[in-house]
Amino acid sequence: MEEKVIEESKQGTSMVLETKKENQKKLFIESYGCQMNFADSEVVASILANEGYNTTQVLEEADLVLVNTCSIRDKAEVTVRKRLQMYNAVKRDINPKMKVGVLGCMAERLKEKFLDEEKIVDMVVGPDAYKDIPNLLKEVEDGRDAINVILSREETYADISPVRLSSNGITAFVSITRGCDNMCTFCVVPFTRGRERSREPESIVEEIADLWSKGFKEVTLLGQNVDSYLWYGGGLKKDFEKASEMQKATSVDFAQLLDRCATQFPKMRFRFSTSNPQDMHIEVIEVMAKHHNICNYIHLPVQSGSTRILKEMNRQHTREEYMTLVDNIYRIIPDITLSQDIIAGFPTETEEDHQDTLSLLEYVRYDFGFMFSYSERPGTLAARKMEDDVPEEVKKRRLNEIIEVQQRIALERTKRFIGQTVEVLVEKDSKRSDKQWSGRNSQSTVVVFPKENYKPGDFVMVKISDCTSGTLIGEAVGYSEIMN
Ligand code: SAH
Ligand code: F3S
Repeated sequence: MEEKVIEESKQGTSMVLETKKENQKKLFIESYGCQMNFADSEVVASILANEGYNTTQVLEEADLVLVNTCSIRDKAEVTVRKRLQMYNAVKRDINPKMKVGVLGCMAERLKEKFLDEEKIVDMVVGPDAYKDIPNLLKEVEDGRDAINVILSREETYADISPVRLSSNGITAFVSITRGCDNMCTFCVVPFTRGRERSREPESIVEEIADLWSKGFKEVTLLGQNVDSYLWYGGGLKKDFEKASEMQKATSVDFAQLLDRCATQFPKMRFRFSTSNPQDMHIEVIEVMAKHHNICNYIHLPVQSGSTRILKEMNRQHTREEYMTLVDNIYRIIPDITLSQDIIAGFPTETEEDHQDTLSLLEYVRYDFGFMFSYSERPGTLAARKMEDDVPEEVKKRRLNEIIEVQQRIALERTKRFIGQTVEVLVEKDSKRSDKQWSGRNSQSTVVVFPKENYKPGDFVMVKISDCTSGTLIGEAVGYSEIMN
C-alpha cells in the first residue's frame, strides 16, 4: 500500500495524444509523482503540439524526451536518475539526435546542478516556466543548455487548454490552485512549486464545459490544498488581506466554486484533491451533502495522530481538532469515505506518538491510506532544524504496523457495501477480465461487474454481492436515473 498516493501503476507512464498531421517532430513525455504532475504534462504537451511536436510512446524515435519529476521522497528522485541513465544509453547507441529535458519538482529543486551532474540533460524547466519551453528549445537546438526555474506569482496556465494524454475519455483532472503556503516542516513542495495562487473560476468552468462537450463524465479538481482556493481577481493567497473591499466582496472560495461547478454541470461527477484539515470548513461539507454529483469521498491527510508531532510538523491542528472535523463530516454525510496520508518516523517520534497514530486510525476508520516512512528532504525546515533520529528499522516497523491496522480496517469498511446497490461510473475493462467493466462508486471504491450492454461513460446501478479489501464485486441492475 505504501506509495499509493502517487498511483504506483501510473508511475513513469509515457503519454500520447491524437496526432496533428502537419507536425513532424516527436515528443516522448513521461511523468512521475502526483496527479498535478500528470495534469501539468498535459499542459506541456499542448504547448508543444503548437511547436510541431506529436507525442510518441517509442523512446528510440523521439526528437525530444521530457521527464516530469517528483521530489517528495528520496526514492522518487532515485527513480528519475535511473531513467536518465536509460535515456543516455538510448541516445548513445540508437538515437544520437535525441534531446532531453527535465521538468517538475526535481528541476526546480536542483536547478543548474542538474546540467552539471547529468550530462544527458539539455534543458531544465521548473513548474511555473512551461510557457517558456518554445524559447528554451531554440537554445537547445542551437546546441546550448537551457534553463528556466523562475517561480511565478501569477501563473496558473488558465489560458492553455490541456490536451488529454492517454485518457480513458471519461475522467479528467482540472487544476484549480498551484503552489502551497503551508510550510509543513517535512515537505519540499512549497520550495518546488512556489506560493499558493488560485485560478480564475471562469477558466475552470470553461475547461469543464469543454470536457463535458467531449463526453467526459467525471472531473477531479486539483490542488496541493484545494480547500484553500480563493479567487479575488488574481494574485497570491497570502496577499488577500491587501485586496480592495470590492475584490473581497466578490471573491470566490472553494465551497462557492464547488457549488457552482456541481450546479452548472448536474450530470458531471465531481471529486477534489487534496484537502488540508486546517482549511476544510463546514461549508464545503454542506455543499457536498447538497449535491448528488459531488462524490462522497475526502482525502484528508493527517500525517500523525500525535498532537506533539503535528506541532513539530507545523500542521495547524491538534489530534482533537482533527477528530472533531471527522465527527462533523460523518454527522453531515454518514455515507462518506475518508482516506489518509501518514508519515511514520518523523524526527523525535516516540513509541507513544506512534501509538497515538494507531489509535487515530481506529477512531477515524479510513477506507484507504497512503503511508510512508519519513524521508529527509534537503532545504526543508525539518532537515535544517531536526535530526533524522528515528532508526530506519524502527521507521519500517512502525510503518508496517500502521499499514497492517489500515488494511484490516479497509476490509471491514469495504464490506459495508455488500448487499447495497451503488452508483458506478463505468471507466474501462476490469483488470482481471475483458467480460467485466471496472468503475468507481461515489466513495471512490473500485467496482467490477459483468458488462452486459453497458458502456464506458454510463452511470450504472450495481448490486454488490462480494468484495476483496479494495474491490467490490456485483451485478448491474439498471442505469442510474439521476445521472444519465
Ligand atoms: N497537499 C499535498 C501533499 C503533497 S505530498 C497533496 O496534494 O497531496 C503527499 C504526501 O506525501 C504528504 O501528505 C505526506 O504524507 C507525504 N510526504 C511529504 N513529504 C514527505 C517526506 N519528506 N517524507 C515522507 N513522506 C512525505
Ligand atoms: Fe506539503 Fe503541507 Fe503543502 S504536505 S504540499 S506543505 S500542505
